[in-house]
Amino acid sequence: MIMDFFATRQLFALPENIIYLDGNSLGPMPKAVMARVAQTLEGEWSKLLIRGWNEAGWFEQPRHVGNRIARLIGAEPNSVTMGDTLSIKMYQALAAALPLNPTRKVVLSCTGNFPTDLYLAQGLIKTLGQSYELRLVAPEDVEAAITADVAVLMLTEVDYRTGRKHDMAALTAKAHALGALAIWDLAHSAGALPVDLAGAKADFAAGCTYKYLNAGPGAPAFLYVAPKHAEIANTPLPGWLGHEKPFAFDLDYKPANGVERMRIGTPPVIAMAALEAALDIWDHVDMAALRAQSIKLCDLLIAEVERATPDLTLVSPRDGNKRGSQVSFAFHEAYAAIQALIADGVVGDFRAPNIMRFGICPLYNSEADILTAALRIAVVVSEGRWNRPEYLAKKAVT
Ligand SMILES: Cc1ncc(COP(=O)(O)O)c(C=O)c1O
Repeated sequence: MIMDFFATRQLFALPENIIYLDGNSLGPMPKAVMARVAQTLEGEWSKLLIRGWNEAGWFEQPRHVGNRIARLIGAEPNSVTMGDTLSIKMYQALAAALPLNPTRKVVLSCTGNFPTDLYLAQGLIKTLGQSYELRLVAPEDVEAAITADVAVLMLTEVDYRTGRKHDMAALTAKAHALGALAIWDLAHSAGALPVDLAGAKADFAAGCTYKYLNAGPGAPAFLYVAPKHAEIANTPLPGWLGHEKPFAFDLDYKPANGVERMRIGTPPVIAMAALEAALDIWDHVDMAALRAQSIKLCDLLIAEVERATPDLTLVSPRDGNKRGSQVSFAFHEAYAAIQALIADGVVGDFRAPNIMRFGICPLYNSEADILTAALRIAVVVSEGRWNRPEYLAKKAVT
């Protein structure tokens, strides 16, 4: 990793007395974000006004930031662009991939996939008609379900509920061997574990930057298009900034070169400034070391919870190499237990129907944090502290 834990923990503006195990929903704010955003507001927007697009490099930001993300996900230079949300980028990827395999009609995914990916596939299929089909199988059955009629395999590498990790390289290789393309959602992978898109020969991938990359709520998403597809894949959302010459204002759309054609409209410049500051941390992180520490901390949480709180059932893989950077347990009152834990200073997540989910990031989570969290989980569950009206009442965002 970069420096020691105390140095990296210092880089984040985390409140005192909070053990934050929710960086897989929303990463904490890197302290440098404040100054960087202030600089964009004061030094760029307020002074340069419209000139900022040229003079402050706003127009080039999606390419420039995309190249910084590329390094974290094993992507080739100039194969990643930024903007919009992950949902939109996954829609673009799927709609661009299907016409590359025109004789086939099946999109294969799994029941562990994040619902937005499935909804957008259903929506796209409705638009396309022509007997397209979304085929869903259990996560462990995906490999066997890759058959010669599959057009596109579309998966989230790390299951948002259980943390189960698909084998990206093996599944992509099997998809290719049987004539299918592979699209990967990296929401729970980018910044959580080493990713090697080029090595795995992934065709498309997309991810968000507000989880493990810590770029803030609503931070822009990224989209990867393998170089071999970049000049032939077309976006279903041809916006003016994906045009070959946006400022020619042609009446007809002509795609820009490469992944640039996947840009749609005006990029979120201020959000991108926050992302740039967050990425400065990643320039110094050794992903292999981070992953080793993440597995160690996840293993520790599993061991301590299983020892002290037998009422919880582990639903994450026990083998760290088959898991992302999270640990999940099933409990019949998971929602209330998470609320009680948050009140007690341990911030985790509830995921329907019965999952207590804890995301772990070694940049700011220590062994001491894990031991304290496990102790508090034991108290909340064994003393029935979750059983209070204020913890049982569901909020809008769970
Ligand atoms: C795996 C996965 N895919 C897609 C999404 C949707 O992302 P967004 O709301 O940024 O479009 C999420 C959100 O948490 C996610 O976890």
